[in-house]
Amino acid sequence: MYVCVCNVVSDKAIKQAVQQGHESFEAIQRELAVGTCCGRCKPFAQEVIRQCVDQQQERLPAFFTPAFA
Ligand code: FES
Repeated sequence: MYVCVCNVVSDKAIKQAVQQGHESFEAIQRELAVGTCCGRCKPFAQEVIRQCVDQQQERLPAFFTPAFA
């Protein structure tokens, strides 16, 4: 599904960027240009990024879990 219509950025593209180590909205924005036109997608993009980061962290072995988690 498209998250950012202006820049044709899909949730799959965001997930892939997160898997490559881009874990903040700003990093994803620099990588994919999501939210750089009208900006309406920003809240949804942030939510998709948060979900992808959470999923990524759930897959990490316990010894990679930060102490504050
Ligand atoms: S929909 Fe993403 S910048 Fe417009």
